[in-house]
Amino acid sequence: MSADRSGITRLLRHLHGADAEGTTLPRVRQEAQTFVATDGEQVVGLVVATLVDYGVEAYGSVEELVVDPEFRGQGTGRSLLDRSLTWLAASGAEVVFVSALDEDVIDFYASAGFKRTTGPWLAWVPDAKRYPAP
Ligand SMILES: CC(C)(COP(=O)(O)OP(=O)(O)OC[C@H]1O[C@@H](n2cnc3c(N)ncnc32)[C@H](O)[C@@H]1OP(=O)(O)O)[C@@H](O)C(=O)NCCC(=O)NCCS
Repeated sequence: MSADRSGITRLLRHLHGADAEGTTLPRVRQEAQTFVATDGEQVVGLVVATLVDYGVEAYGSVEELVVDPEFRGQGTGRSLLDRSLTWLAASGAEVVFVSALDEDVIDFYASAGFKRTTGPWLAWVPDAKRYPAP
């Protein structure tokens, strides 16, 4: 509704300043990628990466990371995580979140560079040398 539009515009000017360009909601980019590992025949691991970008301070999340128990301990989980983080960093994510409750799994993420934040949440910030900003 046009009444909503003017209200949205007014509030966005409060948020971004009276001189801010644009009078509508910013274009929001939300993308997700599923990465899989196979043994040549079937899927033995997967991870889902999601990017949210409102035009500033894009962020990502990593979810559903799982490796078939028969294939664990062979680098598959780390490889899937690396692929998802590489994609997120190349897509502009400035930080990536993951939720993990199990202490062992927290150690797994910590060894990949994630740091604990609050509750079950860990955060990963791309190293600018390894993951140059897009
Ligand atoms: C967590 C998980 C994805 C790891 O997959 P994986 O293929 O076994 O992991 P990798 O072989 O790539 O291991 C990478 C490193 O993490 C370590 N690691 C892997 N799983 C670990 C665990 N459960 N606890 C502690 N360390 C672990 C490995 O020792 C290895 O260390 P290294 O590089 O020093 O040798 C797998 O154990 C799994 O599917 N767990 C059940 C689902 C789950 O909890 N997912 C996480 C949701 S948040």
